Amino acid sequence: MMRPVVYVTRLIPEVALQKLSQSCDYRIWEGEIAVPRDVLLKEVPKVDALLSLLSDRIDGPVMDAAPKLRVISNMAVGFDNIDVREATKRKIMVCNTPGVLTETTADFAFALLLAAARRIAEGERNVKEGKWKTWGPMILLGHDVHHATLGIIGLGRIGAEVAKRGRGFDMKVIYYDTVRRPDLEKTLGVVYKDLKALLAESDFVTVHTPLLPETHHLISEEQFKSMKKTAILVNSARGPIIDPKALYNALHNRQIAYAALDVTEPEPIPLNDPLLTLDNILIVPHIASASIATRTKMATMAVDNLLSAVKGERPPYIVNPEVLSK
Ligand code: DGY
Repeated sequence: MMRPVVYVTRLIPEVALQKLSQSCDYRIWEGEIAVPRDVLLKEVPKVDALLSLLSDRIDGPVMDAAPKLRVISNMAVGFDNIDVREATKRKIMVCNTPGVLTETTADFAFALLLAAARRIAEGERNVKEGKWKTWGPMILLGHDVHHATLGIIGLGRIGAEVAKRGRGFDMKVIYYDTVRRPDLEKTLGVVYKDLKALLAESDFVTVHTPLLPETHHLISEEQFKSMKKTAILVNSARGPIIDPKALYNALHNRQIAYAALDVTEPEPIPLNDPLLTLDNILIVPHIASASIATRTKMATMAVDNLLSAVKGERPPYIVNPEVLSK
């Protein structure tokens, strides 16, 4: 029997590649940047499966160039980089890696929150720049996290884990989601608010929704107007959920106090982006799930999804199961 042909769009943990090589022939993009579109288009015509990353745009033209493609296995829980509708039209399975990164990502969102509240990045910069002259009663005063109000936008898997961490810090935790979760309200001790009320009451706002047409620029000019002047905004979900121009204005005009971002629009953020000129923002390069253990699990899960699909079985995590019944 012919071995399935796979294209892997970046170097992933070795254990996952070994598993893949047992039953498939694969080629891989080994560059440090995302695979260039022209390379991707040249690689896909013979492939049965694609192991992709969130930095790859997998759209109709890529699928048209890949007539044998049966599965796009994304090594991420988010799959907004893939045109799922186009994939479904062509009966191509789309898979993702939910669950394994939940706690790691929640830890990181909380790390961003703490770093922003207590001005850790500025403190570190001051030390390295020789600005630490003495202990000072007024130096780098930040905001308390304990007993503050934490507003979670999106109480899915990651949002719920962030809520637990907030409760561990004796925070009052409120949430907004399109679907109300009475079960979690009880077990986590969180309170539902509509978005406007959440923004008005929160000392910390943290974003955990997927990027969908309805969540694109969910936080924009009008929403910043509702927020406290002392508010800190954290985003470890997807950059385009926050309107970057409105964010710049809100931070520049001190309409809110600070933002801590793991994700930006676009990614990577260009060096001449006005957000990088601000002193009240902390930006890191989309690393919330980047622990050794979690990235290994994500890669293995992406390979498992892919292998099931090429064997003609239902992959454990398929986002468009309707292709199986057509
Ligand atoms: C995901 O899996 O969608 C994350 O953003 C990766 O960290």
